[in-house]
Amino acid sequence: MCGIVGYCGPRRAVPILIEGLARLEYRGYDSAGIAVLENGALVVRKKAGKLAGLASELNGYNGEARVGIGHTRWATHGCPTDANAHPHTDCRGQFAVVHNGIIENYLELREWLGSKGHRFSSETDTEVLVHLLEHFYRGDLLAAMYRTVECLRGSYAVAAISLLEPGKIVAVRQDSPLVVGLGKGENFLASDIPALLPHTRDTYILADGEVALLTPHEVKVFNRRGEEVRKPLYRVDWDAAQAEKNGFPHFMLKEIHEQPRALRNTLHGYLAKDGARGVLKGVPLEESWLREIDKIFITACGTAYHAGIVGKYVIERLARIPVEADIASEFRYRQPLIDRRSLVVVISQSGETADTLAALREAKRLGAPVLAVTNVRGSSIAREADFVLLTMAGPEIAVASTKAYTTQLLAMYLLALHLAALRETMSPEEVGRLVRELEGLDGRAEAVLQNGHLVEKLARDYCAASSIFFIGRGLDYAVALEGSLKLKEISYIHAEAYAAGELKHGTLALIEKGVPVVALATQKSLFEKTLSNIKEVKAREATVIALTMEGQRELEKVADHVIYIPEVDPLVAPVLAVIPLQLLAYQMAVARGCDVDQPRNLAKSVTVE
Ligand code: F6R
Repeated sequence: MCGIVGYCGPRRAVPILIEGLARLEYRGYDSAGIAVLENGALVVRKKAGKLAGLASELNGYNGEARVGIGHTRWATHGCPTDANAHPHTDCRGQFAVVHNGIIENYLELREWLGSKGHRFSSETDTEVLVHLLEHFYRGDLLAAMYRTVECLRGSYAVAAISLLEPGKIVAVRQDSPLVVGLGKGENFLASDIPALLPHTRDTYILADGEVALLTPHEVKVFNRRGEEVRKPLYRVDWDAAQAEKNGFPHFMLKEIHEQPRALRNTLHGYLAKDGARGVLKGVPLEESWLREIDKIFITACGTAYHAGIVGKYVIERLARIPVEADIASEFRYRQPLIDRRSLVVVISQSGETADTLAALREAKRLGAPVLAVTNVRGSSIAREADFVLLTMAGPEIAVASTKAYTTQLLAMYLLALHLAALRETMSPEEVGRLVRELEGLDGRAEAVLQNGHLVEKLARDYCAASSIFFIGRGLDYAVALEGSLKLKEISYIHAEAYAAGELKHGTLALIEKGVPVVALATQKSLFEKTLSNIKEVKAREATVIALTMEGQRELEKVADHVIYIPEVDPLVAPVLAVIPLQLLAYQMAVARGCDVDQPRNLAKSVTVE
């Protein structure tokens, strides 16, 4: 979604704002803008397109301003034009506002403000905020912000500055993230931590309804009722270098290569060594209750949902508990049959996805305890869930999720094995054997990464395809879904995943000479059946790229190309099988000249429904 930054202190604000925006550009890149207070004037510069467009327009201008706010936009209301870019200003040019989220009642507010004589210059929902500030201002920006917020319905993270009170930033959040960075004689504001890290690791993570007042020498935070609150200091435990490309051409490739370490860190963080009371440590789920739950719901969006589908397979298989995996935006409206004997698991890399957060709240409203699997400590989802399993993938910047997905898979395996051990649906020996498989995954992931040459060649050979199909059965189908999402989102090649057995019920009509079909066949028990499906598409002259485990040579006789992953228990194969598919998507996108880290129309963290 959109990214917000703010600075007040003794240094020049413009370069700090631009650098902060560059670190948040993964949140949206339809337009960018800044507003600063300079020599008694409110200076606004904004431009449609990526941040580079604004930077080149600024042409090295650093100005004298010491206070300012900035924004990088992912358009919701109004096209990505200069006029719709943030910051927005009021009629007299005294206030400037940036916003992330959606003001649901903006049309009625706009009409009301119009009747009071306010003139609008954009099509955005955001612009009502700045006119409301202007309308309510009686010599106190903080008080005007409180009056403004009272009028709003929707989600927002907002930052405002005013010519009438220079040296101050006022910010507020509701269902959209906002973090204050605490410096020495200077303070910062941002939608996400990477923008703060070059300056400070000391932060306040604002909660819903909180309003922050920043000056160079102090930060005050108030609750909805206007009472000052003592915020706990959150010291970030990773550094700016982790949010850099470190020599890789793209964040996505760097993050693909970070998977062995991410898997290792997550496993070491949560694996209980003695195994006597399950395999999961550090998540205080009550054992007696875990023995009694009769249903699990897993809900998430996009890639995280695909991890949830793997979770469904493995929990049902190992712990014999019925599991439903739901897309979060569907879950909350379908009146799921949840009660206190249900466990709801929400999965979200960012911990801020609006649909997933809404699903979490719906589950809690229905009385079910919620376990969040998230990569961001202090995120909304982490704070609102009853239990948190923090994946330790480190910051994920590329829009296409990779290392977060494989660590989410690991979380699913740990949960499944934990439940299986506690409910005695598996023998301790079997649990121990699968735990050893998990322990071997980082090394095997490394081996898959070392062996990426074939994928690179395939990407070059097939990058001109207009459509690519992914097929598989069981867990392979779950991975096929993720492989096809990766490919379409960054290469813009039409890609579809099908349960291999389902092809013949319609989609086979689309298979013709030369259409690439990526066929996953890592599941030994389903191998013969998948082989038949591969033969079906070969009979229609498709070009088959098969993916299987070492030792399964039979595919070489049927498929045009075979990618091998190291031999593992088929249950854990998704962690390895997805890596060549991530690389295939990456290499194809590069070969097609696409902007890998910032694919069109997308944003990293989707904080609107
Ligand atoms: C795809 C991708 C998205 C996210 C989805 C959920 O590569 O990244 O599909 O998985 O938007 O995001 P989180 O996990 O942050 O809730």
